[in-house]
Amino acid sequence: MRITCIGGGPAGLYFALLMKQQDPRHEVTVIERNAPTDTFGWGVVFSDQTLGALKRADAKTAGQILDAFNHWDDIDVHFKGRTMRSGGHGFCGIGRMRLLNILQARCEELGVALRYKTDCPDDADIDADLIIACDGLNSRIRTKYADTYQPDIDLRRCRFVWLGTRKLFDAFTFAFEKTEWGWFQAHAYRFDDTTSTFIVETPEEVWRAAGLEAMSKEEGIAFCEKLFARYLDGHALMSNAAHLRGSAQWIRFPRVVCRRWVHHNGRAPVVLMGDAAHTAHFSIGSGTKLALEDAIDLAGRIAAHPGDLAAALQGYEEIRGVEVLKIQNAARNSTEWFENVERHAKLEPEQFAYALLTRSQRISHENLRLRDAGYVGQLEGWLAAQAGLKPEPVPPMFTPFTLRGLTLKNRVVVSPMAQYSATDGVPGDHHLVHLGARAMGGAGLVFCEMTCPSPDARITPGCPGLWNDAQAQAWRRIVDFVHANTTAKIAMQLGHAGPKGSTRVAWEGEDLPLAAGNWPLLSASPQQYLDGVSDWARAATREDMDRIRDDFVAATKRAAQAGFDWLELHCAHGYLLSAFLSPLTNQRSDDYGGSLENRLRFPLEVFRAMRAAWPSTKPMSVRLSAHDWVPGGNTPADAVEMARAFQAAGCDLIDVSSGQVSKQQKPVYGRMYQTPFADLIRNELGIATMAVGAISEADHVNSIIAAGRADLCAIARPHLANPAWTLLEAAKIGHTSGVGADWPVQYLSGKNQLERNLERERQMAAATAGLSPQEQANLAQGV
Ligand SMILES: Cc1cc2nc3c(=O)[nH]c(=O)nc-3n(C[C@H](O)[C@H](O)[C@H](O)COP(=O)(O)OP(=O)(O)OC[C@H]3O[C@@H](n4cnc5c(N)ncnc54)[C@H](O)[C@@H]3O)c2cc1C
Ligand SMILES: Cc1cc2nc3c(=O)[nH]c(=O)nc-3n(C[C@H](O)[C@H](O)[C@H](O)COP(=O)(O)O)c2cc1C
Repeated sequence: MRITCIGGGPAGLYFALLMKQQDPRHEVTVIERNAPTDTFGWGVVFSDQTLGALKRADAKTAGQILDAFNHWDDIDVHFKGRTMRSGGHGFCGIGRMRLLNILQARCEELGVALRYKTDCPDDADIDADLIIACDGLNSRIRTKYADTYQPDIDLRRCRFVWLGTRKLFDAFTFAFEKTEWGWFQAHAYRFDDTTSTFIVETPEEVWRAAGLEAMSKEEGIAFCEKLFARYLDGHALMSNAAHLRGSAQWIRFPRVVCRRWVHHNGRAPVVLMGDAAHTAHFSIGSGTKLALEDAIDLAGRIAAHPGDLAAALQGYEEIRGVEVLKIQNAARNSTEWFENVERHAKLEPEQFAYALLTRSQRISHENLRLRDAGYVGQLEGWLAAQAGLKPEPVPPMFTPFTLRGLTLKNRVVVSPMAQYSATDGVPGDHHLVHLGARAMGGAGLVFCEMTCPSPDARITPGCPGLWNDAQAQAWRRIVDFVHANTTAKIAMQLGHAGPKGSTRVAWEGEDLPLAAGNWPLLSASPQQYLDGVSDWARAATREDMDRIRDDFVAATKRAAQAGFDWLELHCAHGYLLSAFLSPLTNQRSDDYGGSLENRLRFPLEVFRAMRAAWPSTKPMSVRLSAHDWVPGGNTPADAVEMARAFQAAGCDLIDVSSGQVSKQQKPVYGRMYQTPFADLIRNELGIATMAVGAISEADHVNSIIAAGRADLCAIARPHLANPAWTLLEAAKIGHTSGVGADWPVQYLSGKNQLERNLERERQMAAATAGLSPQEQANLAQGV
C-alpha cells in the first residue's frame, strides 16, 4: 500500500513507522513543513498505562522512550499556603523534541520517506492509496473537507501560556495563586534532566483584568515569574514560541470534535488522526497519548483486515471514535474544573485537593486508595472530624450530616419513588413494608413518594395524598414504625402533578391518560404533555393558585402532625410547579410568566407558605430539574438562580434532578450524570445539595461526598432491587465497624456471614488472578 501522512508530529510519524514495521513493502511517506529540529512546546506527559500500549505496538521505540522518560508518582497541590501531596499516580514526562527525534530515527531505520520543510496544504497532488491528515490542531485538510468531517470547535474560557523553567519539580505540581483580579493556576512537571514544563492558566476575564492582553511577551512572562516566584526558587520562566509576539502566546484551548474521520477524495480515503481529529485539554495530559493510540488503532485494524481497507477505516471511525469521545468527556470535566477555580476555592484545602484529583470523575475514591492508601486515610480522618466524629478514617458515605435540628447518620437517601399503590390517597401495607424495609436497610433518610395535597393533584389514582385525616393517620403509622424500629429518618415529598396528572399507573402505560374517570388538569399555560395523546391542561387562574397554595399548606401541617422529619417541595420533572419554572411550558404574559423572576413567583409563594407552616427545627428541601435538556429550556445556570431564590426563602437543601419537562429532551446519560449540577449549585451558592441519578456504588457516593460535590446522595432504582443497598455496599467496601451503618439487631448474624463471604470472595479473587478458568475452578473446589 502507498501511504502518505500529511504532518510529521507524533501521530504521523508513529503511524508511518507502525505501517512500515507491519509490512516493509508498504511505501510510506511523511510530509512535514518544519525541519526535524523545529518544534513548539516543552514536555508531554503519558500515564504508565499508555507506555504499556506503546510497548506492545513497537518494543524498540517504547524502550527508547522509556529510557528518555522522567518518571514520577506524586501530585502536589499548592493552595492557600498549604501543600497536599498524594502518590501512586504513575506519570512520565518527555521532551516533545526528544519524542519526535526518537520517532523520526525509527522511521528512517524502517525506511519511511521523511520529507521535511515541505508545506502540504492540500491533498490534491498526492498519489497514494491512503492519505493520513495528521496536520495538527489547525488542520487545513480538515477545513477543506469540513462538510464531511463536520468539525465542532469550542474555544474554551481560559487563556493559557506554555512555558518552560530550569526549576526541577519532583512531583506533578498544581499551584494556585489568588490575585486582586482572580485565580491563576500553574501546571508544572519535569520532563528531562534540566527542564520542566510550566503552563499558566486563568479565565479570560481575569487575564484581561490583570492587563495581560496589553503586555509584551516579556512583560507577560515577568508577571508569571512574580506571581509564582515561591515555586520557582529564583529560576526564570522561558518561552520557546519565538514566532509569537505580545499576548499571542496566551491562547484559548480549542476543543475539537469531528463527526466523521474519513473522507473519500475520489482517489484515496483521507483520514483524520491526532489533533486534526480531536483534542483533549492539556490538564489531562492526553493529546499526544491520543495521537499515538489513534496510530496504533488504525495500524492494528489494517493488519486485521488484509485487503479490506474500507472495513479497517470503518472500525477506526466508529470504535476508536467512541473511545476518544469518552476521554474527551473526562477532559471536559477537567477543563471545566480549571475554568471554575473561583468556585472550588471556597472548599477547604483538603477537600479542594481531593476535588482536583477526582475532577474528571474517572478516578474514584477506591481508585485513589489503590494509588495512595495513606493519603485517602488521612483525608477520611479529616472529613470525619469535620462531621463531628473522631478524626479516624471512615468512608465519607458513613459520616453524619446535620441540617437545622436534624442529624442523619449517613449520606445515603432513598430517593422518592412513586408506588402507585394507594387507595383513595391512603398509603397502606405496601407502603409500610416498602418504606419500613428501606429504613431498616441502612439509608440515613428515606423519602416517601410524591404525595399530593388534593385529589386532582395526583399523577394517577394510585398516588398517595395528604388532604384528609385518614391519610395523615396512615402516614403516622409508617413514620412511627420507622422511628421505633430503625435509626433512619423519614421525609415527605409534596407535589402537584399539573399537566402530567390523570394518567394510568406506570405498569399500565406511563404518562398515558386514564381510559375513564379523568379529572381536569392545570398547568402554567395551556399544555398537552404528550402531543396528541395527553389530556389538555388549562392555565391556572389566580383563584386556582390560591387554592393550590392553601392545599399545600394544609398538607404541610398534616405532614408535621404525622411526625415526618423532613419536607420536600417537588418543583421538578414537568409537574405543576416545574411547569411554572420552565420557559418551555410557561408562556404566561402575567406576573407569573416571562422572566425567570416571574416564573419563580408562584413556586416561591407556595414554598414560603409551607415553610411558615413547617416546624422551624426541621429541614425543607426543593427538588429542581437543573437542566431541561432542550434548547430554549432551563439550563444549569438558570438552576443556580432558582436555587438562589429558594435559598433566600429559607430552603435548606436543593435536591438536584433534571429533565422530564419535555418529551423533546436529549439528556446526556452516564454514571453520576446529574452530579455536576449539584456541585455547581452547592459551591456557587453555599447551599447544601443532594445529588441523584445513576449513583450506584459506595465508590460513587464516597467520591461525591469527599469532593464536596454534594452533601447527600439519593439512590432510587438500586433501592428497588435491594432495600438493604446501604448495608450491602458497606460490607462490599469492608466498612464493618458499624459507624453510620448499623444493622437491625435482629439481622446481625446476616452481617457477620455477609462480611465473611465477601472476604472469602476477595481472597479467592486475589489468589486466582491470572489463572485460567479451569485452574480457577479447581482452586474453588479445593482440587
Ligand atoms: C500548548 C500545548 C500543550 C500541550 N501539552 C501536552 C501535554 O502535556 N501532553 C500531551 O500529551 N499533549 C500535549 N499537547 C498536545 C500535543 O502536542 C498534541 O496533542 C500532539 O502533538 C498531537 O499530535 P499530532 O501529530 O496530531 O499533531 P502535531 O504534534 O501538532 O503535529 C502536526 C504536524 O503537522 C505539521 N503540519 C501542519 N500543517 C502542515 C502542512 N500543511 N504541511 C506539512 N506539515 C504540516 C506540523 O508542523 C506538525 O509538525 C499540547 C499541545 C499544546 C498546543
Ligand atoms: C419507579 C420510580 C418512581 C419515581 N417516583 C418519583 C417521585 O415520586 N418523586 C420524585 O421526585 N422522583 C421520582 N423518581 C425519580 C427518582 O427519585 C430518581 O430521581 C431517579 O430514578 C434517578 O435516580 P436513580 O438513577 O438512582 O434511579 C422515580 C423513579 C423511579 C424509578
